[in-house]
Amino acid sequence: MLRSFAKPGVDPAEAARGGAGLAGVDHRDLCALFGQVPGDGRAEDAGAGHNDVFGGGCHLYMMPVPVHQRADMSEFVNRKWVVASRPEVEVELSNFELQEEPVADLEPGQLLLKSRYVGVNPPMRMALVSGGIAGRPIPIGRTMYGGGLAEVAASEHPKFAVGDLVQGELGWQEYAISDGARRHAVNKVEAPAGLSETTLMHVMGGSGATAYFGMIEYCKPRPGDTLVVSTAAGTVGALVCQLGRLQGCRVVGIAGSEDKCNYVTSELGAEACINYKSEDVAERLRETCPDGINIYFDNVGGETLDAVLGQIAFGARVVLCGGTSQYNNDLDWYGPKNYFNLVYQQAEMYGYFIGNFSHRYHESRARIGALLREGRMTYREDVLEGIENLPTQLIRILRGENFGIPMVRVS
Ligand SMILES: NC(=O)c1ccc[n+]([C@@H]2O[C@H](COP(=O)([O-])OP(=O)(O)OC[C@H]3O[C@@H](n4cnc5c(N)ncnc54)[C@H](OP(=O)(O)O)[C@@H]3O)[C@@H](O)[C@H]2O)c1
Repeated sequence: MLRSFAKPGVDPAEAARGGAGLAGVDHRDLCALFGQVPGDGRAEDAGAGHNDVFGGGCHLYMMPVPVHQRADMSEFVNRKWVVASRPEVEVELSNFELQEEPVADLEPGQLLLKSRYVGVNPPMRMALVSGGIAGRPIPIGRTMYGGGLAEVAASEHPKFAVGDLVQGELGWQEYAISDGARRHAVNKVEAPAGLSETTLMHVMGGSGATAYFGMIEYCKPRPGDTLVVSTAAGTVGALVCQLGRLQGCRVVGIAGSEDKCNYVTSELGAEACINYKSEDVAERLRETCPDGINIYFDNVGGETLDAVLGQIAFGARVVLCGGTSQYNNDLDWYGPKNYFNLVYQQAEMYGYFIGNFSHRYHESRARIGALLREGRMTYREDVLEGIENLPTQLIRILRGENFGIPMVRVS
């Protein structure tokens, strides 16, 4: 006897003829509806083990397959932050506006993403004015950029199912419609074994890769080297301090508060930490690095970079990763006066872009993941709750008010 998984009250044979309740449903839909793989109607489809009751030769597997129904989007309302104006110097709340909109119906090949976490980082300030590496600022009225973690809330895409965890460019919003590849491109991800899913946003993601490849490809640390790291308690900087210590370097951090400096020395393994807001950086570098600086991992640029360049050792490596001290003034950067010391000390200075290592992220994930699981590396998060707090979190990091890896939990 033919078992049916059709909706109650629908006779499968009647349905196959396009009968009551299923008019207009084609053969292929019917096969799916009854948990079968559609055949092409050739003679072999009607052979032993097959049931040809539908005439088209469906291979009958007694497996229920959910009836596909388009998700009802009327239940979703999106809140998003759009760019309202450009900051003159510091980012302000008034540079953004929170808007609400209904979520559009999904088209074939699209999926609806529900944001869980959205990250913020210093170069977002550049996206608002100079445009940073893209060379064009984000247009007024456009949803603010922001990468994060999301779950699939509805899907018309064959490769994504409801509940899948994905990572990519979501924008500052609760819901994003993606096509998986170009519009809000995302990848399916899983929480790394034994680690929180949020690690994908930083130590097991792009920031981890930035620290790791900056160190192994450019800093080339040797045991005994003196490594100076700016924003030493920051997302990338904290990892660089720890990687340097594990390589046997003497690490000297630079950070913006006593609490952060204590963290850098007591938990990240630095020998000393300079509070650039309350101490004379050049003088403290002379005290803490008496034999000169072999490696400088630069996250801030500006006067701090200048002070370091004045004290590099022979053959030093200087890696320009970030320029956070200049992002509020990104149309008029500070130029270092001590750059000629690179010549005197036959040193190397590199402009580093992590995008060139995206094909090798698996390496940094494997190495940093192992160090975290072995308890040889640590991190600290600074999470604000609710989409309302995205601009606040950006303002906090640009003032150094965060303490830990900044992100916002959206849902
Ligand atoms: N080249 C690449 O491919 C690449 C890739 C990723 C990131 N980056 C860059 O690397 C740097 C670090 O990134 P991250 O994500 O780890 O950010 P982060 O260092 O965690 O950024 C936040 C921190 O920046 C510091 N800061 C804020 N305003 C400052 C100012 N005016 N002067 C000096 N420090 C200031 C604050 O720490 P304090 O309280 O200690 O000042 C704050 O907590 C950024 O400049 C980023 O753009 C570059």
